[in-house]
Amino acid sequence: MKQQNMQELAERRAQAVAQGVSNANPYFAQKAQGAEVWSLEGKRYLDFAGGIGVMNVGHSNPKVVAAIQEQAERFTHTCFNILMYEGYVELAEKLNQLTPGDFAKKTFFVNTGAEAVENAVKVARYYTKRPAVIVFDDAFHGRTLMTMTMTSKVKPYKFGFGPFAPEVHRIPFAYCYRCAYGLSYPSCGLKCAHALEDFFLKEVAAENTACVVAEPVQGEGGFIVPPKEYFGIIRQICDKHGIVMVADEVQTGICRTGKMFAMEHYGVAADLTTVAKSLGAGMPLGAVVGKTEMMDAPHVGGLGGTYGGNPVSCAAALAVLEYVKQEDLCAKAARVGQMARQRFEAMAEKYPLIGEVRGLGAMLALELVRDPKTKEPAGDEAKKLVDYCHNNGLIALNCGRYGNIIRTLMPLVITDDQLDEGLAILEKGLALVSAK
Ligand SMILES: Cc1ncc(COP(=O)(O)O)c(C=O)c1O
Repeated sequence: MKQQNMQELAERRAQAVAQGVSNANPYFAQKAQGAEVWSLEGKRYLDFAGGIGVMNVGHSNPKVVAAIQEQAERFTHTCFNILMYEGYVELAEKLNQLTPGDFAKKTFFVNTGAEAVENAVKVARYYTKRPAVIVFDDAFHGRTLMTMTMTSKVKPYKFGFGPFAPEVHRIPFAYCYRCAYGLSYPSCGLKCAHALEDFFLKEVAAENTACVVAEPVQGEGGFIVPPKEYFGIIRQICDKHGIVMVADEVQTGICRTGKMFAMEHYGVAADLTTVAKSLGAGMPLGAVVGKTEMMDAPHVGGLGGTYGGNPVSCAAALAVLEYVKQEDLCAKAARVGQMARQRFEAMAEKYPLIGEVRGLGAMLALELVRDPKTKEPAGDEAKKLVDYCHNNGLIALNCGRYGNIIRTLMPLVITDDQLDEGLAILEKGLALVSAK
């Protein structure tokens, strides 16, 4: 497309679309395949964002496209509440098997990650008959009223949108690089996990608490990975007080961390698990999966919605799960993660701008700081680096409380050459930003 037409399109966007919807760069998509995307001008980009963690099986995965086409030709919508279809049931059966936890499970579907989290809270409250919800610093759970309340970052997610939903309470997470208690692991004795008991003394009684909702690796918060014992302690405290433990696996699920679900790394099963993003490979789909006695607590008609578990989305998700199994995508994620981590660690030796390399599997991040001692966040530098990448053929993303964290969410089908090429662009950008 000609430059002039591109400018016209940008102008139309500015006139027609609300500014509150952000855009990471000024480009429009033409097509996407695997780990590559092309803009309308025909410029090719490597994709380290995957539509924010949605394209683990790759853009336009042929198996997923075929399943979507086949289902769309049969029927696109009946509403599961009105006329049932097999895909919904089959996908529920699969998720009941695949999510961590050796107990009887049930599932229901919604459209997005935020809806999944919001519905997990509904189930937990109904089951426990308690109001309070505990979440963490730097959490991200979505943009609906309830999940925005549960989300930690004020700007841009909450600012100006209050008043917020009641009975949502927050405690520090296990962000070891910036420990809220100024301690170091392991001599800290996991104070942040045990702080949950203190919270019950100081703020809200345990017997008024319905659920604790946590991301196994915090996503938007900066790919924060708690120590391996952390969730075991949270699990014990929840069990002691009859509190529902919810794992928000919206970003971490479907092999991103090298396991089907990230909680497997900790050897802990949550009572309820939320899934979305890469489950539908771009088709809107979210799921709440959990213990049968909890999932069956709400009365008939209390859960669901017009589009939840749409037949085309379910068909796409079934194709995703089939592909994941056939191609052993989790092993692929572990390998991609290992290769990228090695390169990141080598970069960290060269560039003091990198304060920490962290992550699990292919969910990796670089926390950028102006000074490794003071850990002053390098948010402007991260933004410059992302812009450099976008101008040089790599779609990259930043995140975190200070926007100073570069994260990788590349499609897991990325080839070694593509990974190399993307990492080389990132490193060039790092060198440039570091030199200034
Ligand atoms: C952990 C987590 N939970 C929930 C959500 C919200 O998902 P959605 O944008 O599909 O509503 C996200 C989105 O980034 C997420 O990362």
